[in-house]
Amino acid sequence: MRRDRAGPRAPSRRGAGTANASGVRLRAASAGDAESIAALSGELGYPAGPGTVRARLRRILAREDQLVIIAEHGRGRVCGWLQAHCNEALESGLRVEIVGLIVAKGMRRRGVGRCLVERAEAWAREVAAETVVVRSNARRLESHAFYPSLGYQATKTQVVYRKRAQT
Ligand SMILES: CC(C)(COP(=O)(O)OP(=O)(O)OC[C@H]1O[C@@H](n2cnc3c(N)ncnc32)[C@H](O)[C@@H]1OP(=O)(O)O)[C@@H](O)C(=O)NCCC(=O)NCCS
Repeated sequence: MRRDRAGPRAPSRRGAGTANASGVRLRAASAGDAESIAALSGELGYPAGPGTVRARLRRILAREDQLVIIAEHGRGRVCGWLQAHCNEALESGLRVEIVGLIVAKGMRRRGVGRCLVERAEAWAREVAAETVVVRSNARRLESHAFYPSLGYQATKTQVVYRKRAQT
């Protein structure tokens, strides 16, 4: 691992995963997934066109400190995705942060979310991260049942401030 330079590599991009009991498979994302990711992002409340998502995805996939995993079922139907990145903060050390996770409405409660998070956790172990963290909007009630069931503990409540960087 080259933590001192380009950041950790993303080993999970290498191969396809195995199917879970619901027949869901995990695999690394590619630029061709932009449309499916965009559609699911709309469900999450972040509407973005496929072109915009494709451009972001290309930049993200070119980085070694990023992980983007796709869950699919049937004949390659995308039913979920997860994005995580690895960063190191002076006060908290090296950690993997889950920055996006969504499972299609019709595919929830079948273990898809759990599989995606377990993949991110495996990556965290590989890159020797100290923790896996995730921030989730207080109004996403299902996620506040989901993460504790996977062993995550709520550690603080924050207010997110935002200011436009471009004038
Ligand atoms: C949160 C989310 C990713 C969970 O995905 P999922 O595939 O349905 O989750 P899983 O089937 O792996 O659930 C694992 C466990 O979490 C808990 N859980 C998940 N959803 C739950 C819900 N709606 N109510 C209560 N418990 C829930 C259960 O303990 C479940 O195990 P069980 O089904 O055996 O009881 C999904 O609901 C989602 O995409 N929500 C909208 C987007 C979102 O909130 N993303 C997270 C933002 S960071």
